[in-house]
Amino acid sequence: MCGIVGYLGDRQAYDILIKGLKRLEYRGYDSAGVAMIDEGDFRLFKCKGKVSDLEDSIGSNIKTGNVGIGHTRWATHGPPNDVNAHPHLSNDGSLVLIHNGIIENYASLKAELINRGHTFKSDTDTEVLVHFIEDIRDKTGANLFDSVRIALSEVIGAYAIVILDKSNPNQMIAARKSSPLVIGVGKDNEFFIASDATPIIEYTRNVVYLEDEEIARLDRTDGLKIVTISNQHKDPYVQELEMKLEAIEKGGYDSFMLKEIHEQPRSINDSIRGRMSLATGAVRMSGVDEHEDRWNKATRILIVACGTSWHAGLVAEYLFEEFARIPVEVEYASEFRYRNPVIYPTDVVIAISQSGETADTLAAIEMAKDKGAFIFGVCNVVGSSIARATHSGAYTHAGPEIGVASTKAFTAQVSVLYLLALSVAMHRGVMKQDRLNRLMAELNSVPEKIAEVLKTNEDVKKIAAIYKDSTNALYLGRGYSFPVALEGALKLKEISYIHAEGYPAAEMKHGPIALIDENMPVFVIATQGASYEKVVSNIQEVKARKGNIIAIVTEGDKVVKDLADHVIEIPKSDDSLVPLISVIPLQLLSYHVAVMRGCNVDQPRNLAKSVTVE
Ligand code: G6P
Repeated sequence: MCGIVGYLGDRQAYDILIKGLKRLEYRGYDSAGVAMIDEGDFRLFKCKGKVSDLEDSIGSNIKTGNVGIGHTRWATHGPPNDVNAHPHLSNDGSLVLIHNGIIENYASLKAELINRGHTFKSDTDTEVLVHFIEDIRDKTGANLFDSVRIALSEVIGAYAIVILDKSNPNQMIAARKSSPLVIGVGKDNEFFIASDATPIIEYTRNVVYLEDEEIARLDRTDGLKIVTISNQHKDPYVQELEMKLEAIEKGGYDSFMLKEIHEQPRSINDSIRGRMSLATGAVRMSGVDEHEDRWNKATRILIVACGTSWHAGLVAEYLFEEFARIPVEVEYASEFRYRNPVIYPTDVVIAISQSGETADTLAAIEMAKDKGAFIFGVCNVVGSSIARATHSGAYTHAGPEIGVASTKAFTAQVSVLYLLALSVAMHRGVMKQDRLNRLMAELNSVPEKIAEVLKTNEDVKKIAAIYKDSTNALYLGRGYSFPVALEGALKLKEISYIHAEGYPAAEMKHGPIALIDENMPVFVIATQGASYEKVVSNIQEVKARKGNIIAIVTEGDKVVKDLADHVIEIPKSDDSLVPLISVIPLQLLSYHVAVMRGCNVDQPRNLAKSVTVE
């Protein structure tokens, strides 16, 4: 959840750290801090607020030093304030540390350290960890590298840490367990380190992804050394980054979210490219082709995910049941992992995650793996923890998603899951070739249709202006459009702070209908298809209670147009592909409402993009 960055080399660390923190701010942004070593001491600055607040607070203070670490926080232990912000110093002030994750046994460690004379300034588990490392170093006389290793062998929890010793400006120690860390390897033992590769790519393309329970020593003279917590030597595996710098910049848009909404025709193309051939009439998903047996014998599919990825999972439930005729259960990873669920070795578990780092999803995977299920990952971030923990998978290839509210990652996930369902149906021999051909051709036309829908932006903006001061909103849909209703409501609440609920349209009469009056905007996905007439009846029920209907309809629709207060037209498509198209105006609407309400759409309050704590 927090963002970590570090630099060791000949350049001034400060500018690299600040730039890196701005790139990582999507991971958390309630406080920030940096520490450099200069002339045998730390130059440590930290404060509540965003990275720009940190810069303002540092002003013209001296911030030199060729080694440094920086942190942007999403609070877990203790409120966001100047004291709880990272970096944290050890008891004698000789060490400084940044941390992403949670140290679960921090309370007992803290009590022990207090008995040994330590005093603490903050409420954080992080400060306990750096004191603990110092204590081990002083007790054992071990060097910092070994002290970190010994300390971590006694720590329970999740962490990515980077630590500096002010008496050694030529060295930086880092370690990870369940939280990502990437090391950038420059020339002549210059090193960069970060929670993801975005702060690194403009300096070097050579990276090493630290594995779980590995500790790295980055040294100006000795280079990179990696050991495990159990002290096994590991050879660093240097890989080349494929990410492009433009992909992580705003490219002329006002926000990352708006840019990412507009990128969807391109990102969906990237998700489906090379995976289906209209010429040969085949879908090629290597994760199905290479494990055909597991998919063919599957008696059930379990889908585990959180947030927007869970909504993509709900769409996939409809797809797999309709196309491949396999029963599907979609689970919140956080509930699934603690429920003692029944998992059979014949189950296929699909884990969906944009970041590939969500702690609950990762834990659900490990549990299902232990029970012998086959685990398939649908991730966006290449080399992420979930991508590595699964038996097989498919990347979504949406490109980096920086806006905290997920947009292009959702449509990329649904596109990949669509192909996956088609591929499994094909392997199991339950889909006729002409239907497969038709659906592939329709999927192929989705990017063009989305480009059309994006042209409704100005109309959507006008609707947003009418409803921007609402306090509540209801989203309704049936069948494939029910998950879209949930996703539409989530987008609105997470970035504009308007309370919104998504419901299956028919369930409305079992409760939410009581909320409807002339102040309630009701967004309905009412495209022509299997449940069109039923949805029209639901719209009438809302109108009878004076609710305001904003309907997403199929181009040329007349019936809903007469009933609704506003309509947004989208091109006709097969029911199964409507989610990819109908979600676009809902994303735009939430975006405009949030901007009109003065909200920060890329960094909504209290949220973070990558949730590495449970
Ligand atoms: C956070 C993000 C959501 C995301 C969810 C799951 O809550 O703000 O946008 O859907 O985590 O993340 P994942 O990376 O696993 O898809």
